[in-house]
Order: sequence, then structure tokens, then C-alpha cells
Amino acid sequence: MGYSDVLIGLQYGDEGKARVIDVIGGNYDIIARFNGGSNAGHTIETDKGRLVLHQVPSGVFYPDTILYVGSGCVINIEKLITEIENIENFGLKISKRLRLSSQATLIQPHHLLIDGIMGKAIGTTKNGIGPAYADKAFRAFNDRILNVRLGDVMADPSRFLAYVEKNLKNVVKEHSIKNVDVNKIMTNLRKATEEIRPYVEEDTLFLSKKVDSGRNVLFEGAQSFMLDVTKGTVPYVTSSNTAAAAAYVGGDLSPKHHRKTIGVAKAIMSRVGNGPFVSEFGGERSEKYCIEGDGALHDKNKEAQENVEKLLQSSNEFEIGKALRVLGNEYGSVTGRPRRVGILDLVQLRYAVRCNGIDELWLNKCDLLVDFAKTKYKDIPLITEYSLGGKKIDFVPTSEKECREIKGKAELKNGFVDDISGIRDYEKLPKELISLLTFVEKYVGCNLLGVGVGSNRYKYVLKDSKSSVKIQKN
Ligand code: IMP
Repeated sequence: MGYSDVLIGLQYGDEGKARVIDVIGGNYDIIARFNGGSNAGHTIETDKGRLVLHQVPSGVFYPDTILYVGSGCVINIEKLITEIENIENFGLKISKRLRLSSQATLIQPHHLLIDGIMGKAIGTTKNGIGPAYADKAFRAFNDRILNVRLGDVMADPSRFLAYVEKNLKNVVKEHSIKNVDVNKIMTNLRKATEEIRPYVEEDTLFLSKKVDSGRNVLFEGAQSFMLDVTKGTVPYVTSSNTAAAAAYVGGDLSPKHHRKTIGVAKAIMSRVGNGPFVSEFGGERSEKYCIEGDGALHDKNKEAQENVEKLLQSSNEFEIGKALRVLGNEYGSVTGRPRRVGILDLVQLRYAVRCNGIDELWLNKCDLLVDFAKTKYKDIPLITEYSLGGKKIDFVPTSEKECREIKGKAELKNGFVDDISGIRDYEKLPKELISLLTFVEKYVGCNLLGVGVGSNRYKYVLKDSKSSVKIQKN
């Protein structure tokens, strides 16, 4: 009998989950997604350039690994076809090993239209994710089926594509949307359903059978814990369950196979879209700037021309945040939006570790902590205490009002000045960083394994040199 591990992000997304999977993926036979869809943007920097994955699981670089997309996902098949082509053009063969659960929900054209109109309040990625999950829960309305799954379309294309068309026409009419060419949209979708057919797995026991026959699975979370539709900072969240336990619903496997839970965080946090963010540099001003910014590319270009050294030395936290965004290249990989950045919040991280029972922690972007030496802090700030209404709390409260009223106390830990990106042995890291990492480990209550020291593949230091994970030296 094989086993399954679950890997999730512990903050607000973009912690570098794909990079970790890129490193540990060789230990598994199958990498499986269990939630989300094309809203995810998993970036892997390689010598041949940058590969951004959206719907395809991150194990693409391992030639024999099966890539499974579970029933908890919502799939945009046209975007998926383009993504498969891009990956194959990158020289990676995936067409024979990509399997899509027939129970996964189809993102329909009207979902994109509704998200374009209604997603602004949340700052969604406009991929139709919320409307697709809402229709899944709604199931049917009058003579229309709202939750159309891949297997439905494969088994009975004319009936289910007729529902898709009706759903589209209904939304166009209801919202008086102009310039929508329904015929063209339906022709393209019809073509895409036939192209996607070979990838659809009709055996709903596919993953169970693989694990029963000794194969090991790594579940890859998308979107991260603080964006969970139930446990996150509601309503500023995505529409799926991102918590580790959700892997055993949306991933089509029984929890009896579970072995360990891996959490990924980053040393300087980020968040895209609206919502509370206790440790954000520049607070409300930064939130407003990043959301209202005239499209990220504009901001990215503008920010790239700014004098980053000067911004770092500023007494103003908004400007320090701007510098850290440029230095950390914190711009959304799906939308290109500038990400809001903040101090590593250990109260939030400990909460996420506890809620998900994290066994092993990977902390990305530790190399960027060196930048604090040039700031007014000189040392490295960490949030180690929350107080709400004058009372200390050790959890993330439910209401947005309370989340926004939290006062986070920053503690300074000794900083370092050397570039650590070339280091591969834990003992060779600056002693100040080792001491900070030991503190983090104790504070959040789980073992640290991987320390990210640079953006390229394999720029990792392993704390436990006897770990079964092997890092290629390059
Ligand atoms: P949606 O998932 O497109 O509905 O967006 C809902 C919220 O989740 C927005 O704040 C998005 O910015 C955020 N979000 C969705 N996907 C990601 C991701 O992959 N990384 C980071 N944030 C995400």
C-alpha cells in the first residue's frame, strides 16, 4: 500500500509551493491537485526560463510522474489546452500522464462573465472560480443544470453543452452584457471538449487503485490556508477549501493513506487582492495602492525605476514595502498585480500550523531578509504577539472588523549582511539566521526542513541533512 502527503501554503498564497514540489516531487509517483483552478499561478524559475503553471500540477519536470487533477477542482478546459501546449513547447512531455477527474466541475463561459462583474469587491483573479463553485453548490435551477462536470459533458455532450449555452444566454440577458458572441463561444467550447476528452479519467477510483498498488501521492494545495472559503479571512478569500484536510475530499482518496502534512511559508509575506493583513508595510495605504494601482504592469515598470536603496532607507513603511516588493519581485503571476507585502507574522503562521497539523515547514525567500539591514529596523522584525481590544490573543479572529483592529507587536531579531544564495549547508548560514530560524521553529511548533535562499530551482538549504529529500547542486 502506498501513502499520501499533503502540501499547502500557510499564508495568503504565493509562498512558493511549486518550487518546493519541484524539489521533493521525485519522491512521489503522483502529484495531485484537489482545489482551485486557473486562479493559481505556480512559478518555477529554470535555466531555460520561467515556467508558470495554472491548472497542471507542479510535478511536470519529473518525466514519469502522473499529474492528477481531482474532483474538487474547477477546470477551464480552453485555458488548460493552451497550458498543456506551453508546457510541451518547453520540452516537457505531459500529455500521456495528465489525468483529470471526470467529477471535476467545468468552468463555464458565464462564470467568467459574472466574475468580471462581481469579483471586484473581493479583488478576484477573474477566472470564474467563485461563480463555478457557487453553481456547483446550487446544482440546478428550473430546466437548467448549473453544475456541469467534465464527465457529464463527455458522456452526453449535446445535452450538457445545451445547458452551458442556456446558462450563458441567461447571464447575458440578466446582466444586459453587450458584445457577447454566444455562437463563437460555444463553437470554441465544443472543439475544446473533444480536445480534452483523452485526458478525462472515467475511473472514479483511479487514485485509490494507484495507492492500493503501492504508488505514493503528493497533494498540492492551491491558494493557501488564509484564503480558505471557511477558515480564511472571509469574505476576502477564494471559493474552495484550501486547508490540508480538503485534500481527502477534492483529491479523491481516503484519509487512511495520509502520512504527513507539509507547510510552505515565506519569510517576507505577501497578499494579493483585498482583505485584512495585520503585518502589511504601510497598512491601509499599501492595500489601496496595490488594489487601485493602474494595473500591475504599470506599477511594476514604475516601481522598477525607483531608487530601491533610497526607498529601503525611508522612515516610511509604505516605501520600505515598495522596495521589498521590487526586490522580491512580488507581482501576481496570474494577474500581474502588485502584491501587498508584510513582516513575517508568526502568530498567523502558528495558527495555520495548528489548524492544519503541519509536520514539516519550508520557509522560502530567507535570502531577502538581508535587505532589512539597510532599513531603519537594521535587524529583522517578526510579529510575535497579537492584541485585540487590549487583550492578547493567539488566534485569527472571525470578523473582518476584528482582524483589522488587531495590533501586531513586532520583535527584532539580529540581522545579517551577507548574500546567502550560494550556501547549501545549514551550518554555513549566518549564525543570526540560524538563531532566527530556531526561534521560528519553536514559536510555530513544527520542524523546519527547507530554507529557501534564492529564486532559482534547487536554491534550498535543508536543515536535516539526513532527510530523504535530496537537493541537486547547481
Ligand atoms: P479567486 O480565487 O480568483 O476568486 O480570488 C479570490 C481571492 O483569492 C483574491 O484575493 C485573489 O487575489 C486570491 N487568490 C486566488 N488565487 C490566488 C493565488 O494563486 N495566489 C494568491 N492569491 C490568490
